[in-house]
Amino acid sequence: MEQKQNSTVWIVGASQGIGLALSRQLLQNGFTVVASSRKATRSSELVQLQQQFNSGKLHLLDCDVSEENLQSYCQQAWELAEGLDYWFYNVGVYQPMSVSEWDWNSFNLMNQSNYLGAVKLMIALQRLQAQHDKPMHWIWNISLAADFGLPYGGGYSAPKAALLNLAESIAPELARQRIKLQVINHGFVKTRLTAKNRFPMPGLMEPDEAARKIVPLFGQNRFELRFPWTLSIILGTLKRLPKSWSLYISKRMLKDD
Ligand SMILES: NC(=O)c1ccc[n+]([C@@H]2O[C@H](COP(=O)([O-])OP(=O)(O)OC[C@H]3O[C@@H](n4cnc5c(N)ncnc54)[C@H](OP(=O)(O)O)[C@@H]3O)[C@@H](O)[C@H]2O)c1
Repeated sequence: MEQKQNSTVWIVGASQGIGLALSRQLLQNGFTVVASSRKATRSSELVQLQQQFNSGKLHLLDCDVSEENLQSYCQQAWELAEGLDYWFYNVGVYQPMSVSEWDWNSFNLMNQSNYLGAVKLMIALQRLQAQHDKPMHWIWNISLAADFGLPYGGGYSAPKAALLNLAESIAPELARQRIKLQVINHGFVKTRLTAKNRFPMPGLMEPDEAARKIVPLFGQNRFELRFPWTLSIILGTLKRLPKSWSLYISKRMLKDD
């Protein structure tokens, strides 16, 4: 990571869980971090981090990705960092629902947070990048859930799958414009998202451990980072099996009525 010591990164979704752990580890690696979330400036954890590190190294920027126009947030992040080398999209909202619990507001929130927020930011950031003619590196934290839609989780995984599909589609063109796009598809991490799960979560890890696996990606060229490997293989297999077989397996995950 040494060559990245003076790099700047905008982490959107940085106030809790994985984003907070990643902010801390990137600061320890010498990065300048712009940390955003809806209430970044009121996050006691981020304010504490600011006190631990040189204040010029961590900037807090409130930003709600469900708002219509995100251009001014991009401009502010760019100016705070004096030019962005990295953009890390980490926003995610998860609301498991059975058919009887379907709720438009929850579907809409998950679409805004897990997919459209990234789309709005990428359009604005691409313009800034072109204007400044500066190479950039974008990393999107998606999910292994993008591999296959599992019972009750479709409201979360469908926009994640859309984001992955979009990334595959635009990565070659972005590379020509000197924007490297990478994706992370990982499994269960102990945060407020997984606190909603009432089933065993194989490979569940702490946010610090997940962040330690993510940090090296900032110096790598591969398109996709997947972990842990057991869950990655299970979901990758479900994705590739004939659909009638995969659906036979996922039907067995339904709760008793
Ligand atoms: N935890 C897992 O097991 C797991 C597994 C696979 C993938 N992921 C993905 O990893 C990422 C981080 O998840 P996490 O588990 O660390 O979740 P988390 O603890 O809930 O953190 C999510 C972050 O996003 C911010 N956020 C939420 N809505 C926002 C909005 N509208 N605008 C701006 N910021 C917003 C939150 O801050 P505020 O609430 O203050 O805005 C928070 O900083 C997500 O994309 C998630 O889908 C997680």
